[in-house]
Amino acid sequence: MRKETFYSLIIILFFSALIFAVQNEEENKEHIVVNTCLTCHQEEDSMPENFHEEDIHMQEDLSCAGCHGGDPTTEDEDESMSEEKGFVGVPTKAEIPNFCGKCHSDFTFMRKYQTRIATDQVSQFYTSPHGKGLKKGDKNVADCISCHTSHNIFSAKDPRSTVYPLNVPRTCNNCHGKKLLMMNYNLKTDQFKKYSESVHGNALLNKNDIGAPACNDCHGNHGMNAPEAISVSHVCGACHLHNMEYFTESKMGHAFKENDFHGCEQCHGHHAVQKTNDDMVGIDEISTCVNCHEKGEKGYAAADTIRTYLGNLVAKYDSVKTRLEEVQAQGMNDIEISYLLKEIKHNIVKARTLVHTFDQNKVGEETDKGIKIAE
Ligand code: HEC
Ligand code: HEC
Ligand code: HEC
Ligand code: HEC
Ligand code: HEC
Ligand code: HEC
Ligand code: HEC
Ligand code: HEC
Ligand code: HEC
Repeated sequence: MRKETFYSLIIILFFSALIFAVQNEEENKEHIVVNTCLTCHQEEDSMPENFHEEDIHMQEDLSCAGCHGGDPTTEDEDESMSEEKGFVGVPTKAEIPNFCGKCHSDFTFMRKYQTRIATDQVSQFYTSPHGKGLKKGDKNVADCISCHTSHNIFSAKDPRSTVYPLNVPRTCNNCHGKKLLMMNYNLKTDQFKKYSESVHGNALLNKNDIGAPACNDCHGNHGMNAPEAISVSHVCGACHLHNMEYFTESKMGHAFKENDFHGCEQCHGHHAVQKTNDDMVGIDEISTCVNCHEKGEKGYAAADTIRTYLGNLVAKYDSVKTRLEEVQAQGMNDIEISYLLKEIKHNIVKARTLVHTFDQNKVGEETDKGIKIAE
């Protein structure tokens, strides 16, 4: 190697190391977080009531000033909380969405923290009944902090969050359960009660099954729809895909649309959805079908036939099960018969979903398969 090249290499290396060292020092400096707002408020015993030091904004070193403005580096009270330093103080209720939106509507800013984070909360919010009410000056509706709190905010995935699935129903019920409040809007206050006794509420609140819907899974979070605008089949169909597909493609599905009937809700309800059973179909009084179909109609006849098909298959299943128990009692090989029983169970489950085609032939095809196996 020539001498000149050697010296230039040394020089390049030296400067690179120098630049690296300076950068490092700057990064370190950035990491020593001064937050005189916090220290003084703690000393003065004037911290906001609901403050949690692990609030997601505190974790990200956004400081009090991130939301309230002001200068978090000076210990001087007046200077720190001065208008010149951008201090905005305590927002009014109507100001809150844009107070939060300062960051949450800023895609470039938010992306630094999460590569995939929505920045449409504020615009969505103003399309909801809550946002529309707030715009008109209604002080009873939900704003950002009614659902999220102001100093106790966590990621929605954190069980401590007020909007963690298990906590959502109670967060909504803080207002929607209040009679005096909801009277002004002619709204019922039984949603939480009905919901918590439903198959969904029981799964979520008692069995911690976060696959079951909380209020926001049907109503939305920010761009919450007014209920009359919820396309119920679609809301329910997000989870019960086959039921929705069968129903919307059925003759009756089309008739429901024309008659402005409420899809799934018509037979299952919405807040009080209960566990189902075969007696919901048929011509007995407890069947859902007889609410609309009378003797002589095609729907009535179909209801009767479907119920008979389902009944026959279940009876076969039961007799195979009895047979299995006998075989087991005699200590004989039960592997094959157990396997067949599982298959029949599968046919039953499928047939019950196929009820939503409201087509006796389609249900019949499935029940026939099961009956063949049973025989
Ligand atoms: C040296 C002490 C001190 C510092 C520094 C300080 N504060 Fe305060 N702050 C107070 C005291 C004391 C009060 C309550 C007295 C009052 O209402 O003026 C207060 C009031 C507030 C209020 C309520 C105002 C209102 O209108 O009710 C907010 C919000 C606030 N501070 C935020 C901040 C933020 C953000 C910072 C940092 C940028 C900060 N404070 C820095 C002492 C301090
Ligand atoms: C995520 C945004 C946000 C952050 C971060 C934040 N605040 Fe607030 N703060 C609010 C909002 C919104 C209100 C008004 C609603 C309320 O009173 O809860 C408020 C109200 C206040 C009030 C007056 C009402 C009360 O509860 O006493 C004080 C004082 C205050 N904040 C101080 C602070 C201090 C000190 C910090 C930092 C430790 C801080 N805030 C961090 C959003 C924030
Ligand atoms: C009626 C209650 C409600 C109101 C009002 C509300 N939120 Fe939410 N927010 C939620 C729920 C519920 C979630 C959780 C969604 C989930 O589980 O993914 C959420 C999630 C979020 C998230 C996480 C990212 C996302 O979009 O899912 C942010 C950020 C957020 N909200 C900010 C805001 C802001 C800012 C406002 C005010 C403009 C606001 N929220 C108003 C209920 C609400
Ligand atoms: C100074 C900018 C700023 C302001 C103002 C602000 N936030 Fe945030 N907020 C953030 C950032 C950045 C994150 C993401 C932190 C992370 O992902 O680690 C966040 C996270 C959140 C989350 C959790 C999001 C998730 O992924 O689940 C919620 C909820 C939230 N903020 C609500 C609010 C509300 C409500 C207000 C107003 C009272 C508010 N924020 C004001 C910057 C801000
Ligand atoms: C701070 C109180 C408050 C909270 C918290 C709240 N709401 Fe509301 N909500 C209201 C008020 C008040 C109205 C009536 C607004 C109007 O009609 O102008 C309303 C309206 C609604 C409506 C429209 C009802 C109709 O038929 O007009 C739905 C749906 C709704 N809220 C769902 C929810 C859900 C879901 C949550 C929780 C994620 C929630 N709300 C949290 C106060 C609240
Ligand atoms: C499985 C879906 C689903 C869940 C979960 C759900 N809702 Fe609803 N909600 C609906 C439907 C659908 C309607 C529309 C009823 C109508 O228009 O006949 C509705 C109507 C409403 C209304 C308007 C008044 C009324 O009672 O008809 C409010 C308020 C409401 N829901 C709040 C809530 C709250 C609070 C929760 C959680 C405790 C919740 N909902 C859970 C589907 C759901
Ligand atoms: C977020 C997903 C989700 C949404 C949305 C949803 N469900 Fe469900 N649903 C479930 C889960 C999970 C279960 C099982 C709960 C359990 O039994 O543990 C269930 C159970 C049911 C059952 C009882 C099934 C049985 O075995 O008897 C019926 C009926 C039902 N849902 C109807 C509806 C209707 C109608 C809607 C719309 C108004 C709806 N669901 C919306 C997830 C959802
Ligand atoms: C005309 C009445 C009717 C309508 C409309 C209806 N169902 Fe059903 N649904 C039933 C009956 C009857 C059963 C019981 C079938 C059985 O067990 O034999 C049932 C059972 C169910 C079950 C449990 C069985 C299974 O498939 O897992 C779910 C989940 C369900 N329905 C969801 C829905 C959804 C989602 C919609 C809307 C897309 C809907 N239903 C529309 C009558 C109806
Ligand atoms: C909310 C009212 C309502 C309920 C509940 C209802 N139906 Fe219907 N159904 C209708 C309407 C409306 C039509 C279209 C007009 C007609 O053919 O009677 C229809 C049509 C039908 C048809 C098609 C008839 C043809 O012309 O080919 C069948 C089959 C049917 N329904 C079966 C059922 C069964 C089975 C149930 C119970 C699980 C049921 N329906 C529950 C309202 C309902």
